[in-house]
Amino acid sequence: MAVAGCGGPFIPFSAGRVDATEAGPPTVPEPQQDLASHTESFHHQGFTPTEMIALIVCGHTLGGVRQVDFPLVVTDSATVLQTFDMTPAFDTAVVPEYLQNTAQNPLVVGPNVTTSLLSPANFNQTCSSLFERMLNTIPSNVNLTNPITEPFNYVVADPQFAYRDGSLSMATALRVMNDNPSCTVTLQWTDQQGSFCPPNGCSQQSNGTQNVLFTIIGKMQGVTALRYPFNATINATSSISKFWFEVNENDGSELIVIDNGGAGFVIEQDSVFIDVGRSAIFSVESGGIFDEFVNLVVAVQGDGASTSASVTSFIPTLLNTTNPSFTDPFSTLMMRRLPSD
Ligand code: HEM
Repeated sequence: MAVAGCGGPFIPFSAGRVDATEAGPPTVPEPQQDLASHTESFHHQGFTPTEMIALIVCGHTLGGVRQVDFPLVVTDSATVLQTFDMTPAFDTAVVPEYLQNTAQNPLVVGPNVTTSLLSPANFNQTCSSLFERMLNTIPSNVNLTNPITEPFNYVVADPQFAYRDGSLSMATALRVMNDNPSCTVTLQWTDQQGSFCPPNGCSQQSNGTQNVLFTIIGKMQGVTALRYPFNATINATSSISKFWFEVNENDGSELIVIDNGGAGFVIEQDSVFIDVGRSAIFSVESGGIFDEFVNLVVAVQGDGASTSASVTSFIPTLLNTTNPSFTDPFSTLMMRRLPSD
């Protein structure tokens, strides 16, 4: 994402990494190490000396050296960051600046022969394939998938429930990798009692369509998709047990059923849920400091007379942040019964 976001190449992604449970050996190369140590360390990770040079060039088209980290490399204490080249983009600028000896790159020390990297096409191709190999350097007992190149054809949004005026409502959506304007999608569901909905399920048509905005990666691949949003009203007594979708291209082709391989998308429990529509996260700014507040509304099944509820919330905090405009967000949980429901 970072490389593509700065105008660099697409790097194929393979899934399957495992979480590290402890720190690995310190292998980040240090500028004071000699050439033989670098060559040995890159060799150890499967890279030839030529690939090592290219990889350093590819890596050093972005960013720079921080004076606080390396005062012996960036000696002027007034400089915060000395960039490796003169452009902020992921581009070849680092190469000619280096070869013509106009580099401001503080790590540059002598002549080199990386001329094939002067060509932008070759630069992108070399960097993409070396980055892919670098990212895929994993322990021998970890197996990665083949690169994931295509987005999934159908993606189901997590359903969100609300309870209002005696009914349950469920909001969800189906993303379809298709821009056929005549395509229609139906949401279907079965109830918990098994007798409320007709045999082939209760159903609801989608509520219009929305264009899906992709990240830079999707834009580079030229993919387009439509999102079919649903806001289903569900009988609160019989509730819902599972749901699925039927996609009709309306072009004479067969209906496509998106039902999780036949199992449907199962609603595991409907007795306690966060009412997302009534909950909110908001931040309050005071003197450049932001405090975050969370107002959670939780629906609990039952008549309410004897029901009590407690909520545990986990909010990832920005610990050790160096950005002075943020403090650690904290939450306030306000428990109150909603009168009408
Ligand atoms: C012999 C090999 C290398 C040496 C000696 C080296 C050295 C350095 C040093 C001293 C810095 C400055 C860090 C700081 O100020 O905190 C740096 C930054 C950086 N290096 Fe390397 N590096 C090497 C290889 C690589 C490789 C292989 C990559 C990626 C493929 C890479 C990517 C980067 C990036 C992106 C930055 C900028 C970080 C920032 O701006 O915050 N480097 N490198």
